Amino acid sequence: MDKFLINGPCKIKGKVSISGSKNASLPILAATLLFDKPVIIKNLPRVRDINTMLNLLKSLGSRVILSKDRKTVKITNSKNMKTFASYSLVKTMRGSILVLGPLISKFFKSKTSLPGGCLIGARPVNYHLAALKKLGMEYKIKDGYILAKSNGKLKGQKIKFPKISVGATENSILAACLAKGKTILKNCAVEPEIKDLTKFLNNAGADIKWSGRTCKIIGVNSLNQTVHTVMADRIEAGTFCVAATLAKGDLEIKNLDPKIINTELQLLKKVGAQIKTVNNKIFIKGPKKIKSLRNIKTKEFPGIPTDLQAQLMVLMCKSVGKSSITESIFENRFMHVAELQRLGAKIDIKNNKALINGSTEFIGAELMSSDLRASVALVLAAIVANGKSIVGRVYHLERGYENIENKLKKIGVKIKRLN
Ligand code: EPZ
Repeated sequence: MDKFLINGPCKIKGKVSISGSKNASLPILAATLLFDKPVIIKNLPRVRDINTMLNLLKSLGSRVILSKDRKTVKITNSKNMKTFASYSLVKTMRGSILVLGPLISKFFKSKTSLPGGCLIGARPVNYHLAALKKLGMEYKIKDGYILAKSNGKLKGQKIKFPKISVGATENSILAACLAKGKTILKNCAVEPEIKDLTKFLNNAGADIKWSGRTCKIIGVNSLNQTVHTVMADRIEAGTFCVAATLAKGDLEIKNLDPKIINTELQLLKKVGAQIKTVNNKIFIKGPKKIKSLRNIKTKEFPGIPTDLQAQLMVLMCKSVGKSSITESIFENRFMHVAELQRLGAKIDIKNNKALINGSTEFIGAELMSSDLRASVALVLAAIVANGKSIVGRVYHLERGYENIENKLKKIGVKIKRLN
């Protein structure tokens, strides 16, 4: 398993191009199962999770043609598509559950593995199953699989999610696209990635309208050929903005509409970053002194994203004074704390709240990644630590950050891959 050797502290300065969004690409790729005609998706990030989803689509019978640079894919579904999503593929990437909605809506049956939990929480899919059941999916759980079928087309319904869920919102929209009649989904997640998904579907002839957290879908008979360019990855952009703020850096972040990370940019301004935004560019300079913030709280969009929580924790370790971060989305998303403590962080956990004493001098150490976002937080800490750090299990990073070591090298980070 590869590791990264990082020689801190590093001065970071330069330009970063943001890649396509992993969390927009996954539901959009799953949505291609709804099509009879070829679909072209552009600006895919070259990350492991996308490869997993493409392999899953191939296992279902889709013909997948990738461009040489692996950022554009043409997907054509075969006449006799399969509807079996195996555990071997689903277990490596939870987002695979997003094929369930399209499979049941298009083919009226599916055997899809339950995704199982992961380190950040149990990650149940009960809201997905309850919504699809309301649309007419019958299912039973057997040997870790969801054995699902429907009596012909799904039927439009009124559904109110008990809790805001990105995946359940996406799965339900995908299922409702080809259902008979109107579906009204209430208490939806409204992350920009979901809006990118519905923009893609509407461009292909779907009939989806938003009003706040309510999504109205009128079922159509089929979807047309279309070409879609995936939006930029706001979590990658947020991560680099935190890096600049943390390391007294000076970065130009390109290819992203700054509006979609407005909440994050306002927070970084509060801690002292100087930020200018022009069209699809963000110019950000880190402060000499990082101000601490009491009670940062992760929330559903448009709040502070849980996927940036670990990175912000590293920032607060370097701030002057006391701060706290509350994780309100996942029940176990503080796996990075123990590793940060090995670098010298002074953090106490009380339930889902982390109390952080700032002005930490990180000392380089050997570190172990646990999940995608925690591992990038360890890289950020290593960048500002004194001395050498080794971050293990970089495959976690490669699931969601395209070409991260070269992007970091280009802005001055002394990073080397150790096989
Ligand atoms: C999506 O996960 C993202 N993944 C996550 O990003 C992100 O952290 C999360 O949304 C929150 O923004 C993708 O888009 C592929 P949820 P998802 O359903 O859909 C509970 C990353 O690093 N819940 O909004 O799984 C759930 O356990 C990943 O890129 C149920 O209880 O998140 C959690 O506590 C990590 N039952 C909360 O709701 C359900 O049926 C929010 O989960 C579904 C969810």
